[in-house]
This record gives sequence, C-alpha cells and structure tokens, in this order.
Amino acid sequence: MRSVIVLGAQWGDEGKGKIVDIYSEFADTIVRPTGGNNAGHTLVVKGEKFVFHLIPSGILHPGKKCVIANGVVIDPKVLLTEIDRLKERGFLKDDAQLKIGLLANIILPYHILLDKAREEKLGSRKIGTTARGIGPCYEDKIARIGIRACDLLLPEMFAEKLRANLELKNFLLKNYFGGEEVPFQPTYDEYIAYGERLKTHLIDTSLFIEEEIQRGAKLLFEGAQGTLLDIDHGTYPFVTSSNTTAGGACTGSGVGPTKIGGVIGVSKAYATRVGGGPFPTELFDEEGQKIRDRGNEYGSTTGRPRRCGWFDAPVVRYANRLNGLAGVALTKLDVLSGLPRVKVCVAYEIDGVRREEVPLSLAGFEAAKPVYESLDGWKEDISSAREFGDLPKTAQKYVRRLEEVTGVEIILVSVGADRNQTIIRRNPFRA
Ligand code: IMP
Repeated sequence: MRSVIVLGAQWGDEGKGKIVDIYSEFADTIVRPTGGNNAGHTLVVKGEKFVFHLIPSGILHPGKKCVIANGVVIDPKVLLTEIDRLKERGFLKDDAQLKIGLLANIILPYHILLDKAREEKLGSRKIGTTARGIGPCYEDKIARIGIRACDLLLPEMFAEKLRANLELKNFLLKNYFGGEEVPFQPTYDEYIAYGERLKTHLIDTSLFIEEEIQRGAKLLFEGAQGTLLDIDHGTYPFVTSSNTTAGGACTGSGVGPTKIGGVIGVSKAYATRVGGGPFPTELFDEEGQKIRDRGNEYGSTTGRPRRCGWFDAPVVRYANRLNGLAGVALTKLDVLSGLPRVKVCVAYEIDGVRREEVPLSLAGFEAAKPVYESLDGWKEDISSAREFGDLPKTAQKYVRRLEEVTGVEIILVSVGADRNQTIIRRNPFRA
C-alpha cells in the first residue's frame, strides 16, 4: 500500500504515537487530518523526550514532509511553541518540511473560555473535554463564522471577522456565563503576529498531497482520538467534535477515498477512556488500578487518570465496520502480564438479550452488560519478545482469540514503550 490511514479503534489513547512513529520510517509524507491539541503523544528518541500535540512526530526524520491539513483546528500559540522547541533542538531546519493548510480553522481565546465555561455549567453532566477550545472552534466552522489560517494573512478581513465573533462571544461569556470578555485589540495584534510567523508554512495542502501521490510518494495519515469519539458514530454527546474515522481522514486532508490503500486500527490489548461517557467493560476494582498503574494510564494532554477496563470486542468490530480495517496494531500487551486471568468482552447483554453490536443510544450503552470470556493469563515478562513465537502460549492464544472475536488480523503487537519492543507480523507499506 502506498497510502495508509492509522487511527484509533477505541476511545483514543490507543498508543497511535508509537505505531505512527514505526510506520513513519516507511512513509515519505505524514499527514494529520483532523482534531487539534486535544491529542497528544510523547516519544522518547535516543533518551530525549518529545511531546507532540499538533505536528506529526515524523518531523523528527529530516527527510520527511509533514502536513497539518485543513480539517485540523489549530491553536497557533501551541503550534508555534512546538515549532520553536523543535528548532531549538536542531529539528525542522527547513521550513518547507512542515506544511499547514490555509483553510484550517483557528482556535481563538474565546473558544477556550467557552469550552471551560460550558463544562463548568454542566457540572456533573460535563463531557470531560480537554478544555482546549476544540468543540467551540469546530462549532464556528460548521456555523460558517470560523476564522481560518488564510484570514490571518488578510488584516482587514481578519479584523472584520474577529469583531463579528467577539460581539457574539463576549455577549455569551459575560451575560450567560458571567465570565470575562475577550478584548479586540490585543487579540487582533497577537493573531496577526501568529499569521506572520506561520506564513511560510501555509499552503494548499490538498494540492500538495495530490502532488505527492502523483510523484509516487508513500503517505501516512495519522488519525487523532478514536473511533468511539467520532462526532457522528461515537458515544454522543461524550465525543470529540470531529470525524475521527477513516472518512474524516479523507475529508480533513482533501484526498479522495480511492487514493487510500488501507486503514490500520490501533487498539490496546485492554480498553481505556478519559472523560465521561459509557464504557461497558470499565473496571472499578484493584485489577483496574493495576492496569492503570502498569500501563501508566494518565492522559498525556491533561494528566487525568484514564478509566481502565477489559478488551471490548464489539467496540473493535464496530471500528472495523466504520473504517474498513485492513489490520489491527495491538498495543500494550505487556501491561497484562502477571494477571492470572484475562477477560474479553465478546458481546453485551441488554435487557436479558445477547447483542453482538454496540448500542446506538446512551440508554442502550448504560444497560449493556458485558458477556465475558475468561482466558488464562501469563506470568512472563514479554517485553523482549520480537517474534510472535517468542510470546508465551497463553499470550499467543489471547491475541488469536482477539482476532477471532473482532474479525480483524492483528498485524503488529507492541510489548513495551520503546520503538524496538514491537512484533511486526505484517507491514502495511510492504503489502
Ligand atoms: P474535546 O475533544 O476536548 O472536546 O473532548 C471531548 C472528549 O474527547 C472528552 O471525553 C475527551 O477526554 C476526549 N478526547 C479528546 N481528545 C482525546 C485524545 O486525544 N485521547 C483521548 N480522549 C480524547
């Protein structure tokens, strides 16, 4: 395959960062199609720690081009900090290595204030957003009042749009939420300066991607969040505000689906979720805490402890249906080492009836009781396994059972945080 989408098959935080890092080696160009700085991953390369929220980690390979496409919502302050940190450390020497979509929507201070104020008002019913202004920014985009990267390059146009937005947003912030207003002039000055700094990166990224495809380049599309957080198909309203599924990667990048060779879903060997919303296999006991501690399940963007639970096969089957998966990259199998039994949810029971599919409604989700299969665990430390055959028989059996109950081939198994702690069974770029 020449063009591969990698995306989350669960609720985000599946360990896409490591998988994208591995596959980046085989790709020429890495594209981030959707989401914003609600995403985050940490990479350790030669003992140096890098945290990425917006820029694809492929930027660490000087020969690779990276694209932040039109479907991404960009907080310029966060993006410029990422750019500056990379430059300070000797990366991104050539600005042409990073392309940013002229049509990407921009996160402004009022988006962040509205995100926070709304969550506060919702109280116990809050979504548990990352408070980065993602939802309000996507709302403005859909309402056709958003400010886009190209607007920052046109001072008069930007002033007009900013004034119109501030009139409405400040009314809401002050009168409805009882909070502070956002002043025009400092905001205008700050964002015009951001536009000036980002100018060298801003291009028609859809055209660039098309040119890359035409020249025979290999492209990796790096999805953000996870399938169950998709605005249309996820556990609404406990979702993010973009399409996190394969279709969203095409729309966000401005590339036709027929140009994509395949989609790889990333799934943990168990399940986690941050923020509110349904999670049928959630564990509230010691075993859940054990997984949280061993898997270091604390958010890389917000530091929040992640909710942990058993592998949920209906969720990954759903991800297969929505994305047409050509394979699953299974992460963090090592975290389950030492558990005497490992459980897999193979279906749900809702009102006494067995259901193979995820429910569509929140009420259905709340009523869903997992139907578990219990398998033997393994005691061995598996972090040095490099071939599938190196894994203990019970771990192999667990992986094979996951393939059976999800209907998707597991093409990669990750057994530790390091790049080389990986069992590659099939490489999609070589298929
Ligand atoms: P928002 O995207 O900040 O609006 O948050 C909406 C929901 O998506 C919340 O439950 C967040 O915890 C969740 N979310 C957003 N980004 C990520 C991510 O990168 N990983 C996991 N959950 C996320």
